[in-house]
Amino acid sequence: MSTDTSAVAERFTQLYGSEPEGVWAAPGRVNLIGEHTDYNDGFVMPFALPHKAVAAVSPRTDGLLRLHSDDVDAGVTELRVADLTPESDRGWTAYPSGVVWALREAGHEITGADIHLASTVPAGAGLSSSAALEVVVALALNDLFGLGLRGWQLARLCQRAENVYVGAPVGIMDQTASACCEEGHALFLDTRDLAQRQIPFDLAAEGLRLLVVDTQVKHSHSEGEYGKRRAGCERGAALLGVDALRDIAYEDLDASLARIDDEEIRRLVRHVVTEDERVERVVTLLEEGDPRAIGPVLYAGHASLRDDFKVSCPELDLVVETASDNDALGARMTGGGFGGSAIVLVEAEDVEPVTKAVEAAFAAAGFTAPRTFEAVPSAGARRLR
Ligand code: GLA
Repeated sequence: MSTDTSAVAERFTQLYGSEPEGVWAAPGRVNLIGEHTDYNDGFVMPFALPHKAVAAVSPRTDGLLRLHSDDVDAGVTELRVADLTPESDRGWTAYPSGVVWALREAGHEITGADIHLASTVPAGAGLSSSAALEVVVALALNDLFGLGLRGWQLARLCQRAENVYVGAPVGIMDQTASACCEEGHALFLDTRDLAQRQIPFDLAAEGLRLLVVDTQVKHSHSEGEYGKRRAGCERGAALLGVDALRDIAYEDLDASLARIDDEEIRRLVRHVVTEDERVERVVTLLEEGDPRAIGPVLYAGHASLRDDFKVSCPELDLVVETASDNDALGARMTGGGFGGSAIVLVEAEDVEPVTKAVEAAFAAAGFTAPRTFEAVPSAGARRLR
């Protein structure tokens, strides 16, 4: 699918009969470290991919919302902004129309729009294709209707669209990553107050590469499991008398675990508290200029997600195991889990041998061939024209 700016604008003109008022982009992301911490008010560290959703948009004044996507084999969907209610639409259009709904709910006067979307973010790969769609629409409407909202505010509205309108109980990481990441940086984000620090993350300059391995296992059936983990974490926080697991200091972890009888809750708590500590460690290592040293932290993060949080799957584990057997510096699943993608940190000269080893291991296990690409920290959401 072409997300070339002129191509997307031309397609808009074909569909709607006049040129778009503008064209915007919002990227997918990978998360370097900090998994299942965002709905625990914890720390995350995503960076933006070059893969992006692009939207050509014109505002309307007659209350009509017209939506079209090149990635879905369907015509133009027509809705009335005044009629949008959660669960009123269920297909891909729920993402853009959910954003319009959330903006209007927040008191912003959105009087309609014509929207054409195209995306290169693979769906179901754990790379935030949904957040990219939401954020690109939010940013376009923010500009066209002069709302003056900042990136983090748009992210909050997009999260609300996804939580309430689409009905997926996700945290705030993906939308903030798409809205706020900067080229050449990873975003150290405190999900409690959305305080941000851009951490320089230029692996190529260090002779390193970060591979994304899409296992091709779609994670879309995982919402129930995701919600269960989230509820378990909330129970853990309640048992320990804190607002969120973020409030358990790493130093107090053992004492806190000793106060929980339920083995499952204990595992969830242990993952979240140790994962927050791993994010802080990775930030320190990167700021000290020692990117190779983050490798073991990535492996430790994977083990915790696999054994304590139990959100990995055989394909993700095989990527990480094979990476480790072939001298990768570090590897872990990224995103929500139950499929989707893993990341692998390697020396530049190891890209090919590690990629081949993972492919061979998948073939030997009888798994669908994975898709591997190099992730370069790219720009967050922006206007293209
Ligand atoms: C999904 C959610 C995020 C986050 C991750 C796990 O990507 O959308 O909010 O919870 O899972 O870290």
